[in-house]
Amino acid sequence: MTPPDHQVVAIDGPAASGKSSVARELARQIGFAYVNSGAMYRAVTWHVLEHAVPTDDGAAIVQLLEKSRIDCTLDPDGSRIAIDGLDPTEHLRDDRVNEAVSLVSSVPRLREILVEKMRAYAKDNDIVMEGRDIGSVVFPDTPYKFYIDASPDVRLRRRLAQGQRDQIAARDRADSSRRASPLIIAEDAHVIDSSNLTIEGVVGEIIGRLKMKGLEIK
Ligand code: DC
Repeated sequence: MTPPDHQVVAIDGPAASGKSSVARELARQIGFAYVNSGAMYRAVTWHVLEHAVPTDDGAAIVQLLEKSRIDCTLDPDGSRIAIDGLDPTEHLRDDRVNEAVSLVSSVPRLREILVEKMRAYAKDNDIVMEGRDIGSVVFPDTPYKFYIDASPDVRLRRRLAQGQRDQIAARDRADSSRRASPLIIAEDAHVIDSSNLTIEGVVGEIIGRLKMKGLEIK
């Protein structure tokens, strides 16, 4: 695989581990662009639901995607995705998307399509990208890999505090057991348990580690 032209910090972890808040704040502090790969899987899931394609029909999902235009861009807030000209940002955390996203994102060809778009972000930008398989599959060659975890209790409390109905245990089981690019801890990832840490605490630990590894931070 050709290496990305820019630096990539990979942040993986299970649902509600705090990785989104950490990745966004880290990106802000080190001046990298923030890319949320989960939002890309969520956007595609929304598109599949809008077109009433059965979420367990991988072939139909791929057929839909191959005739859809997927635009992945960056704005100062981070990555954005539009499908066939529609930006589903406000629907990405809808209950029906939470319920279907693990199943839809297990389709291998769909993953190939999105992974190509994720890699394209690193052609022109230094990025912090969060997800499930960023260090293991999307950017296996980056030396900057982190896995953020938190206890199941803490993660459940975080989701409830966000006012969301999200079966995180079921999603974690599905994300970890699927055949295509399951959630795993990349061999060379630095693991941080965020259960008793603040966002600042986790970001500070990551920045310390990035400096130790020689990343030049402006
Ligand atoms: O990070 P999140 O909870 O918003 O991700 C939503 C779903 O997207 C997650 O349950 C599985 C899928 N996902 C994935 O398969 N690979 C990624 N790199 C990111 C997310």
